Formats: sequence, C-alpha cells, structure tokens
Amino acid sequence: MAKYLKFLNGYRMPSVGLGTYGLTGESCKRTVDEALSLGYRHFDTAVSYRNEKDIGETLCLAQKQDRIQREDVFITTKIPSIYLSPEDVKYCVRESLDNLKVTYLDLLLIHNPWGLRNKGDGNFKPVNDEGQLDFVHYDLTETWKSLENLVNSGSVRSIGMSNFSVPQIERILLNCKIKPSNIQLECHAYYQQRKIKQYCDLKSITLSAYGPLGSPDRPEHHRLEKHTVLLDEQVIRHIASDYRKTPAQILLRFLIQNGFAVLPKSQNYNRMKENINLFDFNISAMDMGKIQGLDKGVKYFIFESFKHHPEFLDGEHF
Ligand SMILES: NC(=O)c1ccc[n+]([C@@H]2O[C@H](COP(=O)([O-])OP(=O)(O)OC[C@H]3O[C@@H](n4cnc5c(N)ncnc54)[C@H](OP(=O)(O)O)[C@@H]3O)[C@@H](O)[C@H]2O)c1
Repeated sequence: MAKYLKFLNGYRMPSVGLGTYGLTGESCKRTVDEALSLGYRHFDTAVSYRNEKDIGETLCLAQKQDRIQREDVFITTKIPSIYLSPEDVKYCVRESLDNLKVTYLDLLLIHNPWGLRNKGDGNFKPVNDEGQLDFVHYDLTETWKSLENLVNSGSVRSIGMSNFSVPQIERILLNCKIKPSNIQLECHAYYQQRKIKQYCDLKSITLSAYGPLGSPDRPEHHRLEKHTVLLDEQVIRHIASDYRKTPAQILLRFLIQNGFAVLPKSQNYNRMKENINLFDFNISAMDMGKIQGLDKGVKYFIFESFKHHPEFLDGEHF
C-alpha cells in the first residue's frame, strides 16, 4: 500500500501527515519535534492556525542538527478566507514562506471557497455593522490564477483547495492552466465522501482526509447533540481487537486503503506513533465492507455561520 500519493505534476506527498490545528507555542514545537523523530515527514498547517512560525522554527532547527533536509519534508499551508484577492494571496504566501523559513511550499491550498473581507487587521473572522460575518464573493478562478503564478515563480510546488464541492472544483478545472493536485476535506468512516472521491479519481486529483478520527477535540461551534463519537464505534472496536490494532489505526488504515492521505492530529507521543504505524497490516475486503457500511453522513464540521454565503453550496458534499 502506497506510503505516498503521487500528484499529476510528478511530486509526491507522504500518505500520513501530522495535523496541527490547535497546536501553538511550545507544545506545537515539542509535538513537531517528536513527530520528526517518529518518522513524520508531512505537516499540515494553515495561516489561520497561527502556528507556522512554531513549525518553521522546529523544522529549521532539525535541519541545523542534520536530522532532516528541506527536501525530506512536505509542508502544506492554506490561505484563509480574508486573503482570496490576487494581491492578498501574494502577500499571504510571502508571510507563510517567511514564517515557515522556507523558499518554497510543497502544497498551497485555498482553505475555503467562502471569502471574507480583509479589514487589514489580520482578523480571520471579520464582522460587518450588523455583527454578522463580513462575506465577500471572490471570483475563485481569479484566486486560482494567483496560485498558478506562485507555482510559475517557484514559491509553491503544488496547489489545491479545501472544503470545495464538485461544482466548485469543476469551475476551477474549466478555467485553469495548472490543475489542482489535491483537495483536502472532512473524511472518515462516518462520512466517506464517495461522490467527490469518484469525481477526483476521474480527474487524477488526490484527496486528503481531515478529521480522520472524527475530530473529538474540534471546537464547540462544530458540535451537535446528535453527533456520536467515531472512536467509540463498536464495529471499529471489534475489528481493531481482531487485528490487534487500535481503533485509530483501523480508521486511518481504512482511509489509506481507499486511496486517501490522512492528517491525524495528536500531541501525544504514543498516539502519534500509532497513527503513523499503518503499513504492517491490511484490512480484509470483508472488514473494509463492514466499515463502508458505517457511512452514515455524520459530518462533524458544520460551518453554520457560512451557510448564507453565495459559495456555500448547501447539500453538496465537500
Ligand atoms: N481544511 C480544513 O478545513 C481542516 C479542518 C479541520 C482539520 N484540518 C486538518 O486536519 C487535521 C486533523 O483533524 P482534527 O485535528 O480536527 O481531527 P482528528 O485528527 O480526527 O482528531 C484529533 C483528536 O483525536 C485525538 N487522537 C489522535 N490520535 C489518537 C489516537 N491514536 N487514539 C485516540 N485519540 C487520538 C487527539 O487527541 P491527542 O492530541 O490528545 O492525542 C485529538 O483530540 C487538523 O489538525 C488540521 O491539520 C483541516
């Protein structure tokens, strides 16, 4: 089973990346450092996580200590909704390169299709006079052109998007010179994203699964009473005990066998170790079938406050 996903442009991405949402400061540095020693070579960050500097410093120190070279690590970052105008994209990426202490990014994603006003104060959730999120409807094909320019100038190797639905991906594909290499989206046993996977397979676009463990520590505004805990699912627990693996390993291996990259976040050494040790076993076709049967449409990330944005395509899987 692949330890890398290969992009259409020839670059490859390790199939397991460390999710870093919620990690900042010393705990982020410690976690990234431990992840490096466990063999993680793919780090998923975003401008809005406010941890690019911590990650950059840690990776830079590891290079100085001769533990890694720049080429060994794959770094993804994401442009937040306030920076989707062409000028802001350029500014934002300059800052990311600076923070991460690198001369190029491996993968740059548009974080979300829904734009927000840049008020110049770095607030990622700007509000209007009515106290509502200050929506802007950016032309995403123009945003995409600025990402293409960054590839052409050498500051970014591969580009893609996150939380886009099929019609939005199609809009980009119809108007682009450089095709997206990767789409990042919520995906796990309860929300298997079959429609978009089928579409992206046809277009040779790779997919990365965020929240692959059901994101038990996601922020309060993404929680609904009806949400059940994926890691407690009995089917998964039974399969895990049969294979002498943990439920997390079964959930991650299931996604890997389905052709996804996975981005589990952990700040615990033993759990990080579990989450990358996925390549010494195989889930049988019968057990894969049982997990496929868990696809209940449980979406943990609900983005309620964006539902009136013109780019919020309600009912679409993204
Ligand atoms: N593009 C987007 O819009 C978007 C949205 C959400 C997330 N993401 C990315 O995807 C990454 C992963 O998503 P996520 O952080 O929301 O959720 P997740 O990886 O599904 O779950 C993380 C949670 O699971 C726990 N955990 C980790 N490994 C475990 C294990 N082996 N056994 C039991 N519990 C375990 C972690 O606790 P401990 O830390 O205590 O181990 C943490 O509470 C993010 O960090 C971020 O990089 C992207």
